[in-house]
Amino acid sequence: MPRSVRDVVFVDGVRTPFGKAGPKGIYHETRADDLVVKAIRELLRRNPGLDPAKIDEVAIAATTQIGDQGLTLGRTAGILAGLPQSVPGYSIDRMCAGALTAVTSVAGSIAFGAYDAVIAGGVEHMGRHPMGEGVDPNPRFVSEKLVDESALFMGMTAENLHDRYPTITKQRADEYAVRSQEKAAKAYADGKIQQDLVPISVRRTDASTGETGWGLVTADEPMRPGTTLESLANLKTPFRVHGNVTAGNAAGLNDGATASIIASEDFARENDLPVKMRLVSYAFAGVEPEVMGYGPIPATEKALAKAGLSIGDIGLFEINEAFAVQVLAFLEHYGIADDDARVNQYGGAIAYGHPLASSGVRLMTQLARQFEEHPEVRYGLNTMCVGFGMGATVIWENPHWEGK
Ligand SMILES: CC(C)(COP(=O)(O)OP(=O)(O)OC[C@H]1O[C@@H](n2cnc3c(N)ncnc32)[C@H](O)[C@@H]1OP(=O)(O)O)[C@@H](O)C(=O)NCCC(=O)NCCS
Repeated sequence: MPRSVRDVVFVDGVRTPFGKAGPKGIYHETRADDLVVKAIRELLRRNPGLDPAKIDEVAIAATTQIGDQGLTLGRTAGILAGLPQSVPGYSIDRMCAGALTAVTSVAGSIAFGAYDAVIAGGVEHMGRHPMGEGVDPNPRFVSEKLVDESALFMGMTAENLHDRYPTITKQRADEYAVRSQEKAAKAYADGKIQQDLVPISVRRTDASTGETGWGLVTADEPMRPGTTLESLANLKTPFRVHGNVTAGNAAGLNDGATASIIASEDFARENDLPVKMRLVSYAFAGVEPEVMGYGPIPATEKALAKAGLSIGDIGLFEINEAFAVQVLAFLEHYGIADDDARVNQYGGAIAYGHPLASSGVRLMTQLARQFEEHPEVRYGLNTMCVGFGMGATVIWENPHWEGK
């Protein structure tokens, strides 16, 4: 049977507001799968052109796939969201790049012709499922020195990256973090973020009185708009004595979910669905696990090479800010200034939070909004570092590009 590769597009993306993990966090009494369900329902509401019966797959990522993040989340969330039982689903895991990998996996299948339209996203409730819950690393990793012990602790890998890049000082990381908070606060003030948030009703119980009440979450909880260099200067460095990485220049521990519609361009046009981004290329790469934050560099090299592009062709960057040092290493590698206006225009995970497997689609949703605002830009990219030494990059074309 003759086959041709089909163009794949990002139709739309939404997310829940992100919360702080733990008993005081907004989602403490909210199930992880319910966060995914709310995101899927909102996508369907916003895109009436998408007949739920025509959804070919639901791919949902989670790093910890047990409890309310287990049971093949793509399938269970689909049923809970009211999708027809004929719509299948599956779960996916690439730690921090889970949702990104959900998107690229289904995109490959769409290009091949197996699917027309798919829901792809991710969730991480780090309050209910702390990082590393239930893991049992093979002792050979350490006994046979396959990796350094620090490779298992993401904060330590960030300290290691500071060692590799002595020019990236704590001061530079803190300056970057302050800018991230400032840009995120401005993006909120300008109404850029709220348009893609799904309001979530939550139950809360007052620990002292035992009284229960309900609330509506409409904004990200982790943000600290008043952050200054002075307020960051003396924070503890929990991953190394006299280290560089602090709660202020790292993403936090968070709860949240994202979801997107990915489709063939023909399907989107035929069904009056928006075309917000067109997929150009994607790539994953492995690096030494003890400096996992370096991963976006080789992943981006691969993705650029596959697309026949160079870094100078990229007009907008949405880089996950697991740690400031990891973004700065990427920028330093490419000779891009720490405060370059093309990078994370709305701020990043240092401000919004990073519920691991959900974050990739947040980056895509924000890039899609920036494409609308920047018709002079043709290409943009999303990149993330990934636990155990990986990087992930996706390059998109702006359908609003006016240069043709
Ligand atoms: C860094 C980390 C250990 C901090 O955890 P934590 O101690 O629970 O964080 P908190 O939010 O309580 O912040 C710690 C302190 O810093 C302060 N702080 C945090 N951000 C701040 C900011 N922007 N400005 C001023 N103070 C700040 C807090 O107020 C708190 O102060 P306190 O101890 O006086 O209450 C945790 O966020 C972490 O592990 N992050 C990385 C997550 C990760 O690895 N993700 C995967 C990436 S691959």
